[in-house]
Amino acid sequence: MSDLKQVTTTTLAEMKRAGEKIVSLTAYDASFASLIDAAGVEVILVGDSLGMVVQGRETTIPVTLDEMIYHSRCAARGVQRGLLMVDLPFMSYATLEQALESAARLMKEGGAQMVKLEGGRDQVEVVRRLSGCGIPVCGHIGLQPQSVHKLGGYRVQGRESERAEEMKRDALALQEAGADALVMECVPASLAAAISKELEIPVIGIGAGVDCDGQVLVLHDLLGITPGRIPKFAHNFMADADDIQDAVAAYVAAVKVGEFPAEGHSF
Ligand code: KIV
Repeated sequence: MSDLKQVTTTTLAEMKRAGEKIVSLTAYDASFASLIDAAGVEVILVGDSLGMVVQGRETTIPVTLDEMIYHSRCAARGVQRGLLMVDLPFMSYATLEQALESAARLMKEGGAQMVKLEGGRDQVEVVRRLSGCGIPVCGHIGLQPQSVHKLGGYRVQGRESERAEEMKRDALALQEAGADALVMECVPASLAAAISKELEIPVIGIGAGVDCDGQVLVLHDLLGITPGRIPKFAHNFMADADDIQDAVAAYVAAVKVGEFPAEGHSF
């Protein structure tokens, strides 16, 4: 998408139909949101990964709704064209009423244009309720960082055929409930490709191979300043860039032509 038309859920659906890759990247403040928006990133994600890369925590679990609203409001000020997607943090959507209230605050106070939540069939009623109230929703399956303690660590999901089948059912159930997009994290590339093909809604992958409808990265991974362990799917685009704008442009271009992620970034 080279024009300055505002990116909407319709744009994303059209891009999927046209086979144009969707580019997404995290931002947690106005300066970076503005920079990546100007670089042509279609979906600007205020991820709860901010708990790790901004706050220096071990997991995303302690991030609060008020913190998400604060960072969303900051990022929103920098965005002109991209769609601002914001994570519902851990335990802010445990009941239907709580989910509605939390999503409404992200939109009214934080300027979110889409909310993202982790979970599969267990979240279908929440997605249906939010979607029914006119709230664009993105699901998030595969590795769900908010469930890291239940999953026993940050590991690839869906290697076993039974788990892979469950993930397909999760994806279809979220779509049927009204989700507008789906993030798949850390799953075998072949599984992500099959799910992307089967779904009508766009699938945005991270550690999910090149055949998803789009890609998302944590900004700090792209800039090579990730604190702690560097995930296999991350790539330091600063290594060959003159400046940050150059690195983000290289990421956008590599996703658009299907050069990122490479096989070495995939499972
Ligand atoms: O919180 C985040 O940044 C995310 C991405 C890893 C998809 O959810």
